Parts: sequence; C-alpha cells; structure tokens
Amino acid sequence: MNLFRTKSIEDMRAMAKNSGMVKNLGAMDLILLGIGCVIGTGIFVLTGVAAAKYAGPAVMISFIISGLACAFAGLAYAEFASIVPSSGSAYTYTYASLGEFIAFLVGWNLILEYTVTSSAVASGWSGYVVGLLKSAGIELPHAFTLVPADGGIVNIPAILITMFLSLLLIRGTQESAKLNKILVFIKLVAVFIFLALAGPKVNPVNWEPFMPFGFSGIASGAAIVFFAYIGFDAVATSAEECRNPSRDLPIGIIGSLLVCTVLYVVVAGVLTGVVPYTELNNPEPVAFALRYIGYNIGSALVAVGAIAGITTVLLVLLYGQARIFFAMSRDGMVPAKVCKIHSRYKTPYLVTILGAILVSLIAGFAPIGLIAEMANIGTLSAFLIAAIGVLVLRFTKPDLPRSFKCPLIYLVSPLAVISCGYLMYNLPFDTWVRFFVWCAIGIFVYFSYSYKHSAIADHDEN
Ligand code: ALA
Repeated sequence: MNLFRTKSIEDMRAMAKNSGMVKNLGAMDLILLGIGCVIGTGIFVLTGVAAAKYAGPAVMISFIISGLACAFAGLAYAEFASIVPSSGSAYTYTYASLGEFIAFLVGWNLILEYTVTSSAVASGWSGYVVGLLKSAGIELPHAFTLVPADGGIVNIPAILITMFLSLLLIRGTQESAKLNKILVFIKLVAVFIFLALAGPKVNPVNWEPFMPFGFSGIASGAAIVFFAYIGFDAVATSAEECRNPSRDLPIGIIGSLLVCTVLYVVVAGVLTGVVPYTELNNPEPVAFALRYIGYNIGSALVAVGAIAGITTVLLVLLYGQARIFFAMSRDGMVPAKVCKIHSRYKTPYLVTILGAILVSLIAGFAPIGLIAEMANIGTLSAFLIAAIGVLVLRFTKPDLPRSFKCPLIYLVSPLAVISCGYLMYNLPFDTWVRFFVWCAIGIFVYFSYSYKHSAIADHDEN
C-alpha cells in the first residue's frame, strides 16, 4: 500500500485547463465571493453570544486572535492556490504535498465543514425569516419551521432556501456571482447602518470590565467566533473558474479576510459599547442593540440586511461544497459518476444536487446548536494541515513556479499550525469526540472504496 502517493502538480494544471468549467471570475469577484461567505451568522448572531458567555467586551480581541489564525492559514492557502490552480482547496493542495491518505482526510473534513456550516446557516436563515414574518403579523406553523428537537416536525424554510440556491448554482456561476454582488452590497449597507446609528451612542462604561472571564474567556471566545471567518477559503475552491488564478486568488483570499476582520472588530466594539455584554446572548444581537437604543426602523432594516447576508453565506458555502465533492469524485475518492458537468450550464450539477440533499436533511431535522459546533473543528483541522503542506512543498518541490510566495514561510507556517491548533484545543470535548467519529468513518470509506478507486491507483506518481 502506498498511502502517501501524491498527485502530480503538472497533471493538475492540465486537468484544470480541461475541466470544462467557464473561466470568468476576476479578483474583485473573488473578494466579493469571500465577503459574501464570511460575513453572516457569525457577525449577526455569534458576536453577541461570545461576548455574553465567554469573552465580554474583549470579544474584540477574540476576533483578532481568530483573524490572525486565518491570516496565517490564508497566506499558506494563497501560496498553494497559486501553485495548484485546481478545484478543492486544501484537499487538492494536500494531495500534491502530503499524499493521498492525508488529502482524503482533509477533503473529508472539508465536506464536514461545508455541509455542517451550510446546514447551520440555513437554519439561521429560517429563524430570521420566520421572526421577521412574525413581526409583520404572519405566523408560520411551528411544526413546519422547527426541527423535532425544538418541538416541530421539519424545518421547511431551511430546506426551501437550500434547494433554491442550489438550483441557482446549477444554472451558472456567473449568474450566482451577480446575485451575490447585490446581496453583499445590501449586507454591507446593513452593517454600516448599524455602525452609523450605534457608533455615536457608544458608552465606554459598557466596556468595563473589559475581560470579565480573563484570558481563558477570550480564548474560548476566539474558538467560537472562528465560525465567523469560515468560508474565506471558499475563494480558493473556485480556481478553475478564475481568469487568472495565480494573481487573483491570493488577492481574493487576503483581501476579503482583511475587510472582514476590520468590520468584525469595529462591530464587536460598537455592540459591546452600546449594550452591556450580559444582555447580548440572544438570536439577533445586532438588531436588538438598535432597538435597545431606540432605533426600531433601523433595527428592522438591519434584520433585512442580515437575511440578505446570511443568504450570501449559504450561496458561497453550497458553491464550495459542490467544488470539493467535485474535486474528490474526479480523483476517484468518491464515485466518479457524480462529477458530471451539465452540458448546457457547464456546472457540476450532480454533486450540487447531492450536496443540497445532504444539507437539507441536516438543516431540516437536526438542531442548529449541535451542527454548528462541528463546523469549526473540521475547518481548523484542514487549515492546520494545509499550513504544513505548503512548507513540505517548499522542501520537496523548491523549483515549482510560485506566482505568490507566502512571506516568511518558516515563521508563518508554524504560526498557522500553532494558532489553528490552539483554537481547536479550546473547543468543547464533545466536539472532539464527534470529530473523531467522523474521521473514523472517513478512514473506513478510504480503505474500503477510495484507495482502490483512486485515479492514480495504477500508476503511483512521484
Ligand atoms: N462565516 C460564516 C458566517 O459567519 C459561516 O455565517
């Protein structure tokens, strides 16, 4: 057995050229794609929860810690993305550096990340929409808006939004990118309305005590608000649809990360500055804060913007999920039939449908708290391995053309590993147990199916 067989980078480049996907995304599309995914449930919901339960006003520092971990991992991602312009992000990169088995596990965890995060986000979308309709006098029956654990039967709105966005993705990336741009704009307007209305009302007394739960609270807060950054790596999964991936991908990844980190810290500062942090543990803290200081119309506007924001997150996550499935099925890791490209729309429609069904099943029937916890650990593990992989490639393939070189790689890569590892360490024990179970299932799938069906099984390369 050769668990460490690697895929040749030259083959990947050729495959990317011939994938049949349309290459029409530029750097700006990618930055917007990144923002489209990153700013959502995290900023609109989790900031408040993390402040109230873990970090207090120092949640601003939690965001900086998480943002730094993402920046280190993002730089590694960007170097990889510029070498291997191929769908699948960390999975593909690991395949070229650390070998098939570890790549499979990374891909397996990325599927977990995207599926579970999409499901949590779809549930959040449903919650906001149901809430907004209710305040407009339209009450939907609980049986069809709540999962069984919360006293309902099935969460229909979560399923409907998942199906609708998946159909949109099948119809074409360019169309989806256009809708994404409009929604990103609305979402940013909502954030700026909040900042403009609440900013002048900040009372520094609310920032006292700044660190009510000490540094360990800040660390737990960082592990939780990491969710708010999930998705910036989705940009890297779109390499095969970029006009100039080696230049545009690094700009897209780092650019969107930078914009989001600044916004998060400012929003967290204003939020904890206008409302005592103890009152922020509710499903809509940003809208709540505006009502708290007397802006009811502003609050409704921000709620509409939040729904738009959460929609874009779901769109990009579903997009990324399909691309990772696509990359894995093309390599024989999961049945190859599912990676068929639609003859008219030129998109991987079968994997998109499969992903939508998975997300719908989870979002429709499982409680949001349970599924959201899993997202961070899957993502962090993939980031951590990618950071190791980029360093390994510097040694094993020093001469590869790298249109983007991670600065200070010997410092940045270990820092990415340490910071991602630290955030993982701060996640709850139960999450670790579920994570190991998921990995065990993955290892079973690998040895019973993927190893034999791997596209490079007959001719181990490199
Ligand atoms: N980063 C995404 C969000 O906060 C998953 O909704």
